[in-house]
Amino acid sequence: MNLEDYIASIPDYPEEGVTFRDISPLMADGKAYRKAVNEIVDYADKKQIDMVVGPEARGFIVGCPVAYEIGVGFAPVRKPGKLPRKTIEVTYDKEYGKDTLTLHEDAIQPGQRVLICDDLLATGGTVKATIDLVEKLGGIVVGCAFLIELLDLHGRDKINGYEIRTLLDY
Ligand code: PRP
Ligand code: HPA
Repeated sequence: MNLEDYIASIPDYPEEGVTFRDISPLMADGKAYRKAVNEIVDYADKKQIDMVVGPEARGFIVGCPVAYEIGVGFAPVRKPGKLPRKTIEVTYDKEYGKDTLTLHEDAIQPGQRVLICDDLLATGGTVKATIDLVEKLGGIVVGCAFLIELLDLHGRDKINGYEIRTLLDY
């Protein structure tokens, strides 16, 4: 089974000139979804992960089954105003303007080993902000796993020095 067969490419979405890589066919196929999750679980093997962290919304789709399979907890990173208890936040630059992500302040204990999961690495802004949140709480980011990497956007350059695993490149 080739996971690439389960990614839909939509031309000119959400705007002209952009080809959107859509993971929903992969999620819709139990075997493909399981294969993708298992590849990340295999990557996490021997890393002694204590927690998985994923940014909303598609980071939940990847991170939650990975955490379940490893047998550790999952902490959601969310946009402001969504987490009900005390949070920490990080503001980062996007292509146009800024964005903020938040994490519950007790989501990670100092010294915990964290795997960050998301569906896709584009400019790297989201994963960099997620790393900063985890590190603010004293967590150790031991890996970042994605289904897809958009190579043209050089997101890796924003997270030099961190281990990255991606399953498909475009
Ligand atoms: C998408 C994607 C990643 C992020 C990658 O999420 O799921 O989280 O963008 O882009 P970056 O590397 O340039 O930061 P989006 O912000 O569209 O949110 P969603 O998952 O809620 O749709
Ligand atoms: N697909 C899904 N999410 C994205 C993409 C894409 O091609 N580019 C930036 N975020």
